[in-house]
Amino acid sequence: MNWFDEHRRDLPWRNTDDPYKIWVSEIILQQTRVVQGLSYYHNFIANFPTVKALAEADEAQVLKVWQGLGYYSRARNLHAAAKSVVRDFNGTFPSKYDDIRRLKGVGDYTAAAIASFAFNLPYPAVDGNVLRFTARYKGLFDNIATAATRKKVTAICQEWMPADHAGTFNQAMMEMGAIQCVPINPDCTQCPFATTCYAAIHHCTDTLPVKEKTTKIKDRFFHYLIYLKDNQSIIQKRTGNDIWKGLYEFPLVETETERFDLNLFLQENDIQTNGEPQIILQKKHLLSHQRIHLSFYIIHPEKLPKLTENQQVTEAKMLPKFAVSKVTAEMVEMLGQ
Ligand code: ADE
Repeated sequence: MNWFDEHRRDLPWRNTDDPYKIWVSEIILQQTRVVQGLSYYHNFIANFPTVKALAEADEAQVLKVWQGLGYYSRARNLHAAAKSVVRDFNGTFPSKYDDIRRLKGVGDYTAAAIASFAFNLPYPAVDGNVLRFTARYKGLFDNIATAATRKKVTAICQEWMPADHAGTFNQAMMEMGAIQCVPINPDCTQCPFATTCYAAIHHCTDTLPVKEKTTKIKDRFFHYLIYLKDNQSIIQKRTGNDIWKGLYEFPLVETETERFDLNLFLQENDIQTNGEPQIILQKKHLLSHQRIHLSFYIIHPEKLPKLTENQQVTEAKMLPKFAVSKVTAEMVEMLGQ
């Protein structure tokens, strides 16, 4: 806090304890840099000086003032939350953490920021700046992108936080991360923590914090149709920029969801069968970004369907000669037994 006192940037939302103005600034700063956010903040407050004024505005008006900032759901949530403050709290901005946290568009960080800056309530506001500083100072090698690490850092900040200065402490922590303990090439010679910080002592500010991307896994549903007619089958080569490129596989129907109506598919493609098709193997195949749900069906058609360009008829006993993926190899082996 001594360091903050000396180095703090003079920002308009720091010269007020009006929770409405602090809330607006925090929502703007969620996805916008301070320098860009400043003029929007002034303009927003000039147009809607109070939570009541915001609640009474038209949504179109609010969106117009937000124009250019992007992530417009922030503006719509602000507007909806302002209405709920007027409706549920008689137009007085709530002063309890839980009430603030329940406002639309307000998450853990933003609720803690408003509660501490406006009401001095002792909730650590843990944003990316605070995560970075704390991970470096304490030598935490946990992935900072996870909820578990955020919880750990919140507990550390809770311990550090002086009981009567929650607001200043949170501001100081964020400012430390924003202007001193910067992501790339921080100048540790200028830092008051250079002799006690793990990363400064061990010269590893470039490896801390550890940030592993949490990649979204896409589910895909592959339905393989194994046609068997007089010991003959159909096989096709995979093309395109996808997994198993160049390998062979059985004719494939890929669906967006789990649902696949095989009988309807056969009917639509005019394929008559002897007996009911059987599903004979279901498996999940995990890749770094994909989870492939595989189903294999055995179909005995009256005659083999018309081939598409990349398909060919093969003797069933020749199937083991084709280069196939591991799961298809497993399937081919089952067929041979
Ligand atoms: N980023 C998010 N909130 C901030 C604040 N109150 N001051 C500076 N930068 C911020």
